[in-house]
Amino acid sequence: MGSKVPCALVVMGVSGSGKSTIAHHLARRLGWAYEDADRFHPASNVAKMSAGHPLTDEDRWPWLQAIADEIDRLSGSGERAVIACSALKRAYRNILVHGRDDVRIIFLDGARDLIAARLAARKGHFMPPGLLTSQFATLERPRAGERPITVSIDAPVEAIVDDIVSQLNLVSQ
Ligand SMILES: Nc1ncnc2c1ncn2[C@@H]1O[C@H](COP(=O)(O)OP(=O)(O)OP(=O)(O)O)[C@@H](O)[C@H]1O
Ligand SMILES: [Mg+2]
Repeated sequence: MGSKVPCALVVMGVSGSGKSTIAHHLARRLGWAYEDADRFHPASNVAKMSAGHPLTDEDRWPWLQAIADEIDRLSGSGERAVIACSALKRAYRNILVHGRDDVRIIFLDGARDLIAARLAARKGHFMPPGLLTSQFATLERPRAGERPITVSIDAPVEAIVDDIVSQLNLVSQ
């Protein structure tokens, strides 16, 4: 099980768990492309978010489907990518994975206090109060059936990347 080389790794977790940071470093380590899921939002979602309105799940389906389509495209052309996407709910991840055994979920697991401290220290980002509470309330931790790679974020970035690469059984390039 799981011996097939993945075409896509989805790095998931709550805001501030380190998705962008870890996905970027992991992609560099593997020599794969790095993608941020935000880039796949339809214009209507971008407009809604810029106006400060939260997205509903109805808004999210076409966005997640666009990422799933990109995963199919990558796979068809022999490309590989690490995709940073919060993917907090199982229903979201089901769309991204859509039954493919070459899409793996990387779950960045960390304590709320640690993440709150990192968010407070992060430059250039405004964090609405209560955001982390709602993120943890929404989070459905991946179950064993999703074959997640779970890593603790209470470590230096390169150590987390080492942990992921070793759990994936991938040889870094
Ligand atoms: N392992 C780590 N050790 C120390 N700091 C870290 C680590 N991982 C991430 N950080 C820092 O924590 C902050 C949050 O990380 P990052 O922006 O990657 O999170 P994110 O999950 O992408 O957040 P968002 O959902 O808001 O996009 C950043 O300032 C980042 O530099
Ligand atoms: Mg990010």
